[in-house]
Amino acid sequence: MKILVTGGCGYVGSVLVPKLLKDGHSIINIDTQWFGNYLPKHKNLRNLKFNLSNIKSLKVKNIECCIHLASIANDPMAELDKSLSWETSALNTYSLMEFLKNIKTKRIIYASSGSVYGISKNPRVTEQTPLKPISLYNKVKMVTERVILSYSKSIETFIIRPATVCGYSPRMRLDVTVNALTFSALSKKEIRVFGGKQVRPNIHIDDMCDIYRFFIKTSKKNSGIYNAGFENKSILDIAKFVEKFIKSKIKIYKDRSDPRSYRLDSTKILKVGFKPKKKIKDAIIDLRNNYQRKVLKKKPNFYSLKWLQKILKNN
Ligand SMILES: NC(=O)c1ccc[n+]([C@@H]2O[C@H](COP(=O)([O-])OP(=O)(O)OC[C@H]3O[C@@H](n4cnc5c(N)ncnc54)[C@H](O)[C@@H]3O)[C@@H](O)[C@H]2O)c1
Repeated sequence: MKILVTGGCGYVGSVLVPKLLKDGHSIINIDTQWFGNYLPKHKNLRNLKFNLSNIKSLKVKNIECCIHLASIANDPMAELDKSLSWETSALNTYSLMEFLKNIKTKRIIYASSGSVYGISKNPRVTEQTPLKPISLYNKVKMVTERVILSYSKSIETFIIRPATVCGYSPRMRLDVTVNALTFSALSKKEIRVFGGKQVRPNIHIDDMCDIYRFFIKTSKKNSGIYNAGFENKSILDIAKFVEKFIKSKIKIYKDRSDPRSYRLDSTKILKVGFKPKKKIKDAIIDLRNNYQRKVLKKKPNFYSLKWLQKILKNN
Protein backbone atom coordinates (compact mmCIF):
# COMPACT_ATOMS: atom_id res chain seq x y z
CA MET A 1 0.00 0.00 0.00
CA LYS A 2 1.17 3.56 -0.66
CA ILE A 3 1.16 5.46 2.64
CA LEU A 4 1.81 9.13 3.40
CA VAL A 5 3.38 9.57 6.84
CA THR A 6 3.69 13.01 8.42
CA GLY A 7 6.23 13.50 11.22
CA GLY A 8 7.88 10.16 10.45
CA CYS A 9 11.34 11.36 11.55
CA GLY A 10 10.11 11.76 15.13
CA TYR A 11 10.37 9.40 18.10
CA VAL A 12 7.46 7.15 17.08
CA GLY A 13 7.95 7.57 13.31
CA SER A 14 11.59 6.46 13.44
CA VAL A 15 10.43 3.04 14.69
CA LEU A 16 7.19 2.95 12.70
CA VAL A 17 8.49 3.77 9.20
CA PRO A 18 11.05 0.91 9.10
CA LYS A 19 8.31 -1.49 10.28
CA LEU A 20 5.96 -0.27 7.51
CA LEU A 21 8.71 -0.75 4.92
CA LYS A 22 9.32 -4.26 6.25
CA ASP A 23 5.58 -4.93 5.85
CA GLY A 24 6.08 -4.15 2.15
CA HIS A 25 4.44 -0.71 2.03
CA SER A 26 5.67 2.17 -0.04
CA ILE A 27 6.16 5.28 2.10
CA ILE A 28 6.30 9.01 1.49
CA ASN A 29 7.38 10.73 4.67
CA ILE A 30 7.17 14.48 5.16
CA ASP A 31 8.89 15.99 8.17
CA THR A 32 10.61 19.28 9.01
CA GLN A 33 13.31 17.11 10.62
CA TRP A 34 13.47 19.38 13.68
CA PHE A 35 15.09 16.61 15.71
CA GLY A 36 17.15 15.13 12.89
CA ASN A 37 16.61 12.22 10.55
CA TYR A 38 17.35 8.69 11.67
CA LEU A 39 15.46 6.87 8.90
CA PRO A 40 17.69 4.56 6.87
CA LYS A 41 17.54 4.83 3.09
CA HIS A 42 15.20 2.33 1.41
CA LYS A 43 14.06 1.83 -2.16
CA ASN A 44 10.40 2.18 -1.12
CA LEU A 45 10.90 5.32 0.99
CA ARG A 46 10.66 8.91 -0.24
CA ASN A 47 11.85 10.82 2.79
CA LEU A 48 11.27 14.55 2.34
CA LYS A 49 12.40 17.44 4.52
CA PHE A 50 9.10 19.21 4.09
CA ASN A 51 6.79 21.40 6.15
CA LEU A 52 3.20 20.21 6.32
CA SER A 53 2.09 23.81 5.83
CA ASN A 54 3.19 23.39 2.16
CA ILE A 55 1.15 20.24 1.63
CA LYS A 56 -0.64 21.72 -1.40
CA SER A 57 2.63 21.64 -3.34
CA LEU A 58 3.37 17.96 -2.65
CA LYS A 59 3.43 15.95 -5.87
CA VAL A 60 1.99 12.53 -5.03
CA LYS A 61 -0.64 10.18 -6.43
CA ASN A 62 -2.58 7.15 -5.28
CA ILE A 63 -2.05 7.57 -1.55
CA GLU A 64 -4.35 5.04 0.08
CA CYS A 65 -3.70 5.88 3.70
CA CYS A 66 -2.16 8.71 5.73
CA ILE A 67 -0.63 8.25 9.18
CA HIS A 68 -0.55 11.72 10.68
CA LEU A 69 2.06 12.12 13.43
CA ALA A 70 3.44 15.64 12.77
CA SER A 71 2.81 17.90 15.74
CA ILE A 72 4.46 19.88 18.46
CA ALA A 73 4.39 16.91 20.73
CA ASN A 74 4.12 17.83 24.41
CA ASP A 75 2.80 20.41 26.86
CA PRO A 76 5.84 22.63 27.51
CA MET A 77 6.83 22.68 23.81
CA ALA A 78 3.33 23.77 22.82
CA GLU A 79 3.66 26.77 25.16
CA LEU A 80 6.86 28.00 23.44
CA ASP A 81 4.96 29.55 20.55
CA LYS A 82 1.21 29.25 20.94
CA SER A 83 0.35 30.38 17.41
CA LEU A 84 2.84 27.92 15.95
CA SER A 85 1.22 25.12 17.97
CA TRP A 86 -2.23 25.88 16.55
CA GLU A 87 -0.75 26.28 13.09
CA THR A 88 1.34 23.10 13.19
CA SER A 89 -1.49 20.86 14.31
CA ALA A 90 -4.95 22.31 13.72
CA LEU A 91 -4.45 24.57 10.71
CA ASN A 92 -2.01 22.31 8.88
CA THR A 93 -4.32 19.38 9.52
CA TYR A 94 -7.14 21.26 7.83
CA SER A 95 -4.87 21.73 4.76
CA LEU A 96 -3.86 18.08 4.95
CA MET A 97 -7.49 16.93 5.02
CA GLU A 98 -8.36 19.09 1.99
CA PHE A 99 -5.33 17.67 0.19
CA LEU A 100 -6.23 14.06 1.05
CA LYS A 101 -9.82 14.62 -0.03
CA ASN A 102 -8.66 16.02 -3.38
CA ILE A 103 -6.32 13.12 -4.10
CA LYS A 104 -9.04 10.67 -2.95
CA THR A 105 -7.11 9.10 -0.08
CA LYS A 106 -9.28 6.49 1.59
CA ARG A 107 -8.13 6.60 5.19
CA ILE A 108 -6.41 8.76 7.81
CA ILE A 109 -5.02 7.54 11.11
CA TYR A 110 -4.30 10.40 13.50
CA ALA A 111 -2.01 10.45 16.55
CA SER A 112 -4.05 12.49 19.02
CA SER A 113 -3.29 12.12 22.73
CA GLY A 114 -4.80 10.49 25.79
CA SER A 115 -4.06 13.76 27.57
CA VAL A 116 -7.19 15.33 25.98
CA TYR A 117 -9.07 14.01 29.05
CA GLY A 118 -7.10 16.32 31.38
CA ILE A 119 -7.39 15.56 35.10
CA SER A 120 -9.78 12.74 35.92
CA LYS A 121 -10.22 10.57 39.00
CA ASN A 122 -12.51 8.32 36.97
CA PRO A 123 -11.07 4.78 37.16
CA ARG A 124 -12.37 4.07 33.63
CA VAL A 125 -11.67 6.91 31.21
CA THR A 126 -13.25 5.57 28.03
CA GLU A 127 -13.73 7.22 24.64
CA GLN A 128 -17.15 8.38 25.93
CA THR A 129 -15.66 10.36 28.83
CA PRO A 130 -16.07 14.13 28.25
CA LEU A 131 -12.84 15.88 27.28
CA LYS A 132 -11.46 18.42 29.74
CA PRO A 133 -8.17 19.46 28.17
CA ILE A 134 -6.17 21.60 30.57
CA SER A 135 -3.08 22.59 28.60
CA LEU A 136 -2.67 24.25 25.23
CA TYR A 137 -1.25 20.99 23.83
CA ASN A 138 -4.36 19.09 24.96
CA LYS A 139 -6.66 21.76 23.49
CA VAL A 140 -4.84 21.76 20.15
CA LYS A 141 -5.10 17.95 19.99
CA MET A 142 -8.83 18.07 20.78
CA VAL A 143 -9.54 20.67 18.10
CA THR A 144 -7.39 18.82 15.55
CA GLU A 145 -9.46 15.67 16.20
CA ARG A 146 -12.61 17.68 15.43
CA VAL A 147 -11.09 18.99 12.18
CA ILE A 148 -10.37 15.42 11.07
CA LEU A 149 -13.75 14.06 12.17
CA SER A 150 -15.51 16.76 10.14
CA TYR A 151 -14.20 14.89 7.03
CA SER A 152 -15.60 11.51 8.08
CA LYS A 153 -18.06 11.45 5.19
CA SER A 154 -15.31 11.54 2.56
CA ILE A 155 -12.40 9.83 4.40
CA GLU A 156 -12.34 6.90 6.83
CA THR A 157 -11.09 8.49 10.04
CA PHE A 158 -9.29 6.70 12.85
CA ILE A 159 -8.37 8.84 15.85
CA ILE A 160 -5.92 7.26 18.28
CA ARG A 161 -5.51 8.72 21.77
CA PRO A 162 -2.18 7.24 22.89
CA ALA A 163 -0.87 7.01 26.40
CA THR A 164 2.70 8.18 27.02
CA VAL A 165 4.95 6.12 24.81
CA CYS A 166 8.03 4.37 26.21
CA GLY A 167 10.96 2.42 24.83
CA TYR A 168 13.92 2.82 22.54
CA SER A 169 13.90 4.70 19.24
CA PRO A 170 16.87 5.92 17.17
CA ARG A 171 15.34 9.43 17.53
CA MET A 172 15.09 9.09 21.27
CA ARG A 173 12.83 11.17 23.50
CA LEU A 174 14.26 11.54 26.99
CA ASP A 175 11.43 13.85 28.05
CA VAL A 176 8.69 11.22 28.36
CA THR A 177 8.05 9.57 31.73
CA VAL A 178 9.45 6.03 31.59
CA ASN A 179 12.34 7.02 29.30
CA ALA A 180 13.24 10.02 31.47
CA LEU A 181 13.15 8.09 34.76
CA THR A 182 15.08 5.17 33.27
CA PHE A 183 17.74 7.39 31.71
CA SER A 184 18.15 9.31 34.95
CA ALA A 185 18.65 6.00 36.82
CA LEU A 186 21.20 4.85 34.24
CA SER A 187 23.21 8.05 33.94
CA LYS A 188 22.91 9.57 37.45
CA LYS A 189 22.00 6.54 39.56
CA GLU A 190 19.23 8.75 40.85
CA ILE A 191 15.55 8.91 39.87
CA ARG A 192 14.09 12.36 40.35
CA VAL A 193 10.35 12.32 40.95
CA PHE A 194 8.30 15.51 41.08
CA GLY A 195 5.19 14.90 43.15
CA GLY A 196 4.75 11.34 42.02
CA LYS A 197 1.08 10.77 42.75
CA GLN A 198 -0.04 11.69 39.22
CA VAL A 199 -1.35 8.58 37.46
CA ARG A 200 -0.41 8.23 33.80
CA PRO A 201 -1.16 5.55 31.26
CA ASN A 202 1.73 4.06 29.29
CA ILE A 203 2.28 2.19 26.05
CA HIS A 204 5.36 0.49 24.64
CA ILE A 205 6.65 2.00 21.37
CA ASP A 206 6.35 -1.37 19.59
CA ASP A 207 2.67 -1.65 20.57
CA MET A 208 2.17 1.98 19.50
CA CYS A 209 3.55 1.16 16.04
CA ASP A 210 1.55 -2.06 15.89
CA ILE A 211 -1.62 -0.04 16.50
CA TYR A 212 -0.95 2.11 13.43
CA ARG A 213 -0.18 -1.05 11.44
CA PHE A 214 -3.37 -2.67 12.76
CA PHE A 215 -5.56 0.27 11.72
CA ILE A 216 -4.11 0.35 8.20
CA LYS A 217 -5.72 -3.06 7.66
CA THR A 218 -8.81 -3.02 9.83
CA SER A 219 -12.31 -2.86 8.34
CA LYS A 220 -13.70 0.62 7.68
CA LYS A 221 -16.66 -0.20 9.92
CA ASN A 222 -14.24 0.15 12.85
CA SER A 223 -13.47 3.79 12.09
CA GLY A 224 -13.73 6.04 15.14
CA ILE A 225 -11.86 7.06 18.27
CA TYR A 226 -9.64 4.71 20.27
CA ASN A 227 -7.77 5.02 23.55
CA ALA A 228 -4.39 3.30 23.44
CA GLY A 229 -2.73 2.70 26.79
CA PHE A 230 -2.39 -0.52 28.68
CA GLU A 231 -0.62 0.24 31.97
CA ASN A 232 -1.90 3.01 34.25
CA LYS A 233 0.68 3.76 36.91
CA SER A 234 1.59 6.62 39.24
CA ILE A 235 4.91 8.31 38.47
CA LEU A 236 6.23 7.06 41.83
CA ASP A 237 5.25 3.48 40.98
CA ILE A 238 7.05 3.79 37.64
CA ALA A 239 10.13 5.07 39.49
CA LYS A 240 9.97 2.10 41.90
CA PHE A 241 9.70 -0.19 38.91
CA VAL A 242 12.80 1.38 37.30
CA GLU A 243 14.66 0.99 40.62
CA LYS A 244 14.03 -2.77 40.43
CA PHE A 245 15.93 -3.11 37.17
CA ILE A 246 18.60 -0.41 37.53
CA LYS A 247 20.64 0.17 40.65
CA SER A 248 19.61 3.69 41.68
CA LYS A 249 17.89 5.78 44.37
CA ILE A 250 14.55 7.59 44.14
CA LYS A 251 14.54 11.26 45.20
CA ILE A 252 11.15 12.87 45.63
CA TYR A 253 10.80 16.60 45.06
CA LYS A 254 7.78 18.82 45.70
CA ASP A 255 5.10 18.74 43.03
CA ARG A 256 5.85 21.06 40.12
CA SER A 257 3.60 22.34 37.36
CA ASP A 258 2.35 19.13 35.76
CA PRO A 259 -0.85 18.01 37.48
CA ARG A 260 -2.17 15.88 34.56
CA SER A 261 -3.53 12.68 36.02
CA TYR A 262 -5.78 10.16 34.33
CA ARG A 263 -6.25 6.47 33.65
CA LEU A 264 -7.03 5.27 30.15
CA ASP A 265 -9.44 2.44 29.56
CA SER A 266 -8.56 0.77 26.26
CA THR A 267 -11.23 -1.95 26.19
CA LYS A 268 -12.56 -0.67 22.86
CA ILE A 269 -9.32 -1.24 20.94
CA LEU A 270 -9.01 -4.73 22.48
CA LYS A 271 -12.57 -5.50 21.37
CA VAL A 272 -11.77 -4.77 17.71
CA GLY A 273 -8.91 -7.28 17.91
CA PHE A 274 -5.73 -5.41 18.84
CA LYS A 275 -3.49 -7.26 21.29
CA PRO A 276 -0.59 -5.46 23.01
CA LYS A 277 2.56 -7.54 23.32
CA LYS A 278 4.86 -5.48 25.51
CA LYS A 279 5.05 -3.90 28.95
CA ILE A 280 6.79 -0.98 30.64
CA LYS A 281 9.26 -3.57 31.97
CA ASP A 282 10.33 -4.44 28.40
CA ALA A 283 10.97 -0.77 27.66
CA ILE A 284 13.12 -0.34 30.78
CA ILE A 285 15.17 -3.47 30.05
CA ASP A 286 15.59 -2.49 26.40
CA LEU A 287 16.75 1.02 27.33
CA ARG A 288 19.17 -0.40 29.90
CA ASN A 289 20.64 -2.85 27.38
CA ASN A 290 21.00 -0.16 24.71
CA TYR A 291 22.68 2.14 27.24
CA GLN A 292 25.11 -0.57 28.31
CA ARG A 293 25.92 -1.34 24.66
CA LYS A 294 26.46 2.43 24.11
CA VAL A 295 23.68 2.52 21.50
CA LEU A 296 21.66 4.87 23.71
CA LYS A 297 23.58 8.03 24.53
CA LYS A 298 22.62 11.47 25.82
CA LYS A 299 22.19 13.86 22.89
CA PRO A 300 20.82 17.41 23.04
CA ASN A 301 18.15 16.74 20.38
CA PHE A 302 16.71 13.96 22.57
CA TYR A 303 15.40 16.68 24.91
CA SER A 304 12.65 18.04 22.68
CA LEU A 305 11.79 21.19 24.65
CA LYS A 306 15.29 22.69 24.85
CA TRP A 307 16.03 21.63 21.28
CA LEU A 308 12.89 23.22 19.83
CA GLN A 309 13.54 26.35 21.90
CA LYS A 310 16.92 26.63 20.16
CA ILE A 311 15.41 26.07 16.71
CA LEU A 312 12.73 28.71 17.23
CA LYS A 313 15.31 31.19 18.57
CA ASN A 314 17.47 30.76 15.46
CA ASN A 315 14.56 31.19 13.04
N1 LIG B 1 5.48 10.18 22.35
C1 LIG B 1 4.41 10.16 23.14
O1 LIG B 1 4.47 9.80 24.32
C2 LIG B 1 3.06 10.54 22.56
C3 LIG B 1 1.92 10.32 23.34
C4 LIG B 1 0.67 10.69 22.82
C5 LIG B 1 0.59 11.24 21.56
N2 LIG B 1 1.72 11.44 20.82
C6 LIG B 1 1.59 12.04 19.50
O2 LIG B 1 2.19 11.16 18.56
C7 LIG B 1 2.81 11.93 17.51
C8 LIG B 1 4.28 11.54 17.37
O3 LIG B 1 4.92 11.80 18.61
P1 LIG B 1 6.49 11.71 18.77
O4 LIG B 1 6.73 11.36 20.18
O5 LIG B 1 7.07 10.88 17.70
O6 LIG B 1 6.90 13.24 18.58
P2 LIG B 1 8.22 13.89 17.91
O7 LIG B 1 8.26 15.30 18.36
O8 LIG B 1 9.39 13.03 18.17
O9 LIG B 1 7.85 13.83 16.36
C9 LIG B 1 7.06 14.77 15.71
C10 LIG B 1 7.67 15.02 14.36
O10 LIG B 1 6.84 15.96 13.65
C11 LIG B 1 7.69 16.81 12.92
N3 LIG B 1 6.94 18.04 12.62
C12 LIG B 1 6.48 18.98 13.49
N4 LIG B 1 5.85 19.96 12.83
C13 LIG B 1 5.89 19.65 11.51
C14 LIG B 1 5.40 20.27 10.33
N5 LIG B 1 4.75 21.42 10.37
N6 LIG B 1 5.63 19.66 9.14
C15 LIG B 1 6.29 18.46 9.08
N7 LIG B 1 6.77 17.84 10.16
C16 LIG B 1 6.58 18.42 11.37
C17 LIG B 1 8.91 17.02 13.80
O11 LIG B 1 10.05 17.41 13.06
C18 LIG B 1 9.07 15.64 14.43
O12 LIG B 1 10.00 14.84 13.71
C19 LIG B 1 2.61 13.40 17.88
O13 LIG B 1 1.49 13.89 17.19
C20 LIG B 1 2.33 13.35 19.37
O14 LIG B 1 1.55 14.45 19.79
C21 LIG B 1 2.95 11.10 21.29
